[in-house]
Amino acid sequence: MDDRSAAILPSSFAPGPATGGGEPTIRLENVQKIYDLGEVQVHALRGVSLQIYPGEFVAVMGASGSGKSTLMNILGCLDKPTKGRYFLDGVDVSGLSKRELARIRSKKIGFVFQQFNLLSRTTALENVELPTIYSGVPIAEREKRAREALVRVGLAERAGHFPSQLSGGQQQRVAIARALVNDPSLLLADEPTGNLDSRTSVEIMDIFQRLNEEHGLTVIIVTHEADIAQYAKRALEFRDGRMKKDVAIQDRLIASEVLPTLPSPDEDMVEGIAGVAAGSADDSGIRVR
Ligand SMILES: Nc1ncnc2c1ncn2[C@@H]1O[C@H](COP(=O)(O)OP(=O)(O)O)[C@@H](O)[C@H]1O
Ligand SMILES: [Mg+2]
Repeated sequence: MDDRSAAILPSSFAPGPATGGGEPTIRLENVQKIYDLGEVQVHALRGVSLQIYPGEFVAVMGASGSGKSTLMNILGCLDKPTKGRYFLDGVDVSGLSKRELARIRSKKIGFVFQQFNLLSRTTALENVELPTIYSGVPIAEREKRAREALVRVGLAERAGHFPSQLSGGQQQRVAIARALVNDPSLLLADEPTGNLDSRTSVEIMDIFQRLNEEHGLTVIIVTHEADIAQYAKRALEFRDGRMKKDVAIQDRLIASEVLPTLPSPDEDMVEGIAGVAAGSADDSGIRVR
């Protein structure tokens, strides 16, 4: 933490380890979230304090209902704490208006969901382009940016496909490209592999690890699978709205090393055997029209 050298770099390019110096990307001070349902109040977060530095890769774990999504929504500026403070890149965002939060979100944060949340009647390219419209990227640049983002997730040749023509893993890659298109420094993913088979999950972790290592993106994912958390660098465990554990990952897995050891149901073969795949009960989420 005494190493101040990283502080002169733009936060998105600050190198390496958890406590690499400089300002934390994220600082939560005693954050509470209470959902007021009239008759009952749900204490979803009961005082969470936390710092996450540029270039970290954090897995948020915990049972269903422990507050993980509530935390992610606050980190992603989709929601605000009821009490406590949230500093994002040193700026207190806990008191900002919805409009101001939306502006910060579109500049700094990419968000990936378990259900992909793609527009179904819209091509992969158009789905990825969407956030550039809201963030005010000039029209002439939007498509170029979207194509670049698809390249980063290895889906350049699928730009014209509709979600229903893509496997689950490919749809999630489109969603990741959409999260990247405005060049965020922080990538948040809430159970991104929750709907994917195990090999496809590792492929998604490979993308996150590359973005983290090669592009210096700060990555935070929610998962309840311990083997997925092994791809992160640090794990937090939540229980009943409180952070119970904060540990460095030992024996971290590297997805690019694990993938060759897994059986390959090569997704790209689907196109060649479309009829067969469409008729088979395949748990990889592959759907062919
Ligand atoms: N929008 C909401 N309104 C009311 N209660 C909510 C809302 N979102 C979550 N909760 C409640 O807050 C608690 C934490 O939920 P959540 O953050 O979604 O947990 P997790 O993602 O770990 O499953 C749960 O008790 C849940 O029912
Ligand atoms: Mg959740």
